[in-house]
Formats: sequence, C-alpha cells, structure tokens
Amino acid sequence: MSETPEKIVREYDGKTVEYVFLAHKDELAANRQLTRWVGEHDILLYEYEGSIRALSNVCRHFGGPVGFHQAKDGVFTCLWHCWQYSCEDGACITQPRLPLRRYPLLIEGDDIYVDLLG
Ligand code: FES
Repeated sequence: MSETPEKIVREYDGKTVEYVFLAHKDELAANRQLTRWVGEHDILLYEYEGSIRALSNVCRHFGGPVGFHQAKDGVFTCLWHCWQYSCEDGACITQPRLPLRRYPLLIEGDDIYVDLLG
C-alpha cells in the first residue's frame, strides 16, 4: 500500500499549483462534513449533491464556525449569530455581498488535497 503524499504539485498552462493533503474520503462518510485546520486555514470540507467541496469555516460576520452544525437543506448556519451560507457555492444568504472563500480541491483516489492559494 502506498503512502499518502503530504503535497502534490501540478502544472496548468505553465502555472504551478501546490495541493496540500486535507483528508481521506472515508473521514467524510459519517457526517458528510468536517472541519480541519491546514496551516493557518480553517477549512470546511463537505459533500453536497454528489461532489466534495471546501469553503472557509470562518464566518464573514465575526469569524464564527460556519460548519459547527450539520448543514440542513443545503444551508450552513453559523454557530454564533446564525448567518447562513449556501452549500452550493458558499454564497451568503444573510448578507449576499459577503460570500465564503471557496478552496479548489484535487482528489486523488481516496485522498483529498486543497489548494490554499486558489
Ligand atoms: S459570527 Fe457567524 S453569524 Fe456572527
């Protein structure tokens, strides 16, 4: 069995992108979402409508944990003051001009990597 690399580097049209290991797919199996720190990034990883996606877990209001509660009906609700965000794309339903940051992912077999600069 091969070991999971910590990083994967890919080239796209001459641009180098570094992906950092985030999680194994089976970690999503229980709740279909999890939060994890990678470096200084607090990331909300989840499965929605058959695809794996990642958003910032830091609420645009005052920095509360967006993924503390399980998503319901396609919506995350922040723990602190209940601002809501779409699971589709991180759009803020409460304050539409303040979407969550989306992170590009690379999925290699059962391993999920994130582009922290994307
Ligand atoms: S910090 Fe998220 S709603 Fe206030």
